[in-house]
Amino acid sequence: METLTIDIEHIKRFVTKSELNKQAKAAAEARKTLLSGKGAGSDFLGWVDLPAKTTTRITSRIRNEVDRLSAISEYVVVVGIGGSYLGARAVIDAFQHRAAFGQGYPYILYAGHTLSEDYYHWLMEILATVDYSVVVISKSGTTTEPAVAFRLLKKNLERRYGVHGAAQRIVAITDQNRGALHDIALQKGYSSFVIPDNVGGRFSVLTPVGLLPIAMTGLDIDSLLSGARHMRKVCLASDSIEENPALLYAAVRNALYQKGRQVEMMVNFAPNLRTISEWWKQLYGESEGKEGKGILPHSLSFTTDLHSMGQYVQQGQRIMFETVLSIQKPHHRVAIPVDKQNLDGLNYLADKSLTEINHCAEQGTVLAHEKGGVPVMRIELPKIDEATLGQLIYMFEFACGVSGYMLGVNPFDQPGVEAYKNNMFALLGKPGYSI
Ligand code: PA5
Repeated sequence: METLTIDIEHIKRFVTKSELNKQAKAAAEARKTLLSGKGAGSDFLGWVDLPAKTTTRITSRIRNEVDRLSAISEYVVVVGIGGSYLGARAVIDAFQHRAAFGQGYPYILYAGHTLSEDYYHWLMEILATVDYSVVVISKSGTTTEPAVAFRLLKKNLERRYGVHGAAQRIVAITDQNRGALHDIALQKGYSSFVIPDNVGGRFSVLTPVGLLPIAMTGLDIDSLLSGARHMRKVCLASDSIEENPALLYAAVRNALYQKGRQVEMMVNFAPNLRTISEWWKQLYGESEGKEGKGILPHSLSFTTDLHSMGQYVQQGQRIMFETVLSIQKPHHRVAIPVDKQNLDGLNYLADKSLTEINHCAEQGTVLAHEKGGVPVMRIELPKIDEATLGQLIYMFEFACGVSGYMLGVNPFDQPGVEAYKNNMFALLGKPGYSI
């Protein structure tokens, strides 16, 4: 399997060798803490071994559910928020070029990630005319947004298909023993999958939380897991930034943070990677943003955003660095046609593929931003397939644990996300809450 690589050529002007070496040592130390299972939040290290421990019993069960639901559903609504939503959507969106709906797989819609009334009106209007099923995902089983969405959808399914028929169209992914969703699933006899106790939401994409929705679109979850397994081996084998891309990534971003670069912009040159950035933002934002510390994760889609945020990146405050997700090979070729009249003056591009042009845009942008004072790191992805995404996911997760320990925070808790909930519950009059 071709391993993804990280190119740090364009950060060398900004970080000296000895600064990078210092962070490389800190990264190796943080890796040791992570793997010792003695660091802060070590009850949530289940993700480290997930790719190796996910049995064929689980993946076969997932595939059976996919076959069963596909046979009765034109649409499947995936209900969840945060870690119970972003990972699945990130992988599904990355494969827009291979969307399998209409080829025996259902079309995926999302719910539970918003409280927008108009969104649910639109969703229910679409669902009124099609056969559909629901995959509801919540580790705690009590999160308000997915619980509200699930109540709406469950009632609708029960009205249309009867209580028994609805139960055949609902799959729950939740805690093994606790929570309202667990209790409902048990009482109603829904098919269900367990989210392991020791895997936090934002690290759960390689559990059924991500695997079932991803498999619903016809994607190959075995290859996704094998890519993650490959990267796990790499990460467990070495504590050197020369050999371990997760450590290199963690060391570089911390070296830049030490030099005042407080914002990391995850940049893609293909819109199908936009949701990967959203998943990455949650992973790093929730893991590192605490105790007044943490690099602010931000994202941009180029070349689109070169025509909006490009100005700021080139000449605004020098507080950021960029991490570019660079796809080496496309799946399809689209070339620029020759035009005899050449009124648009584009014949100099004739016969060039869009990837050739896009790669020149990327190279030109990297050089311009570096010259403008923005360090740029590039993650080279051989191509977008399941195995490469599996590698990328595991690399970011491992680097996140390491980077959090380098920063001196617990990368596996999220105490801050409770604050808004308390206020919302108080405003809604939930007993026991006040502002
Ligand atoms: O990473 C996290 O822990 C959060 O983003 C959760 O995934 C999110 O709040 C949803 O929680 P739950 O799965 O319990 O509904």
